[in-house]
Amino acid sequence: MSDSIAYLNGSFLPLSKARISVLDRGFLFGDGVYEVIPAYGGRPFRLDQHMERLEHNLRAIRLAPPLSPGQWEAILKELLQGSHDQAIYLQITRGAAAKRDHALPAEPCPTVLAWAFPMNDEIPQPARAITHTDIRWQWCHIKAITLLANVLLRQQALDQGCQEAILIREGEVTEGAASNVFAVIDNVLVTPAKGPHLLPGITRDLVLELAEDHGIANRERELTAEELTAADEIWLTSSTRELVPVVELDGQPIGKGRPGPVWQRMYEIFQAYKRSFHDTL
Ligand code: PDD
Repeated sequence: MSDSIAYLNGSFLPLSKARISVLDRGFLFGDGVYEVIPAYGGRPFRLDQHMERLEHNLRAIRLAPPLSPGQWEAILKELLQGSHDQAIYLQITRGAAAKRDHALPAEPCPTVLAWAFPMNDEIPQPARAITHTDIRWQWCHIKAITLLANVLLRQQALDQGCQEAILIREGEVTEGAASNVFAVIDNVLVTPAKGPHLLPGITRDLVLELAEDHGIANRERELTAEELTAADEIWLTSSTRELVPVVELDGQPIGKGRPGPVWQRMYEIFQAYKRSFHDTL
């Protein structure tokens, strides 16, 4: 990955050569937001939705958008070389100020960074997950770069031989450490409603849209930890992992302990949707 081309503050250069100031507020305070945008056939997928979320997030952290959607589109085009499955990592911080000060600088000079990396295009492997108390802050709807809690939670899952931590706040599922969560309960696809305790995932929204289009009953509502444990199926969604079936939770099998029929159906619908996106190239 070290020889990917990066975009940094107006220039394109090898990622390994990209440098920022140690006074950057992203480095000092985690003061910034990010996006991860998948690209199929060399074209960003659901770009409008990702750009809209980025704008919301910038507004939420009181930072004016440094670039217009058109400027972003031109940068992504430059970064996306080849037609294999890739994703763009894109980050905007409040930049470097003259000294370390919690107060927002009156005239911030944002640091804008992006690069493309290859994505795995194989069928997702069934995953094992743990549940864990959601120890994060109260503004999880902001895609902030401040990810220490998420990093530690994911590592806890890895240390236990699992791939994801599903987070529980006051008895209710919020999301995964780096994914949204779906459950199939009595043939209904259930996912926690949007709110400040979870990221409004772009993949989550697409799965709901596809469920609606294909007559799969679905609800956005509170999902309790007990319901999750007893669910027929659990899935995780994210831009990089798409739609991953969870077959074991806290050491107990979910459903029959293998990917379920609703996941299989949605996986096929999702892949067909991606193919139709390819075909419009
Ligand atoms: N993460 N919730 C959290 C906490 C996430 O970090 C992510 C994705 C999602 C899924 O959102 P989307 O479908 O828009 O990717 C939900 C990215 C991929 C990451 O941090 O790498």
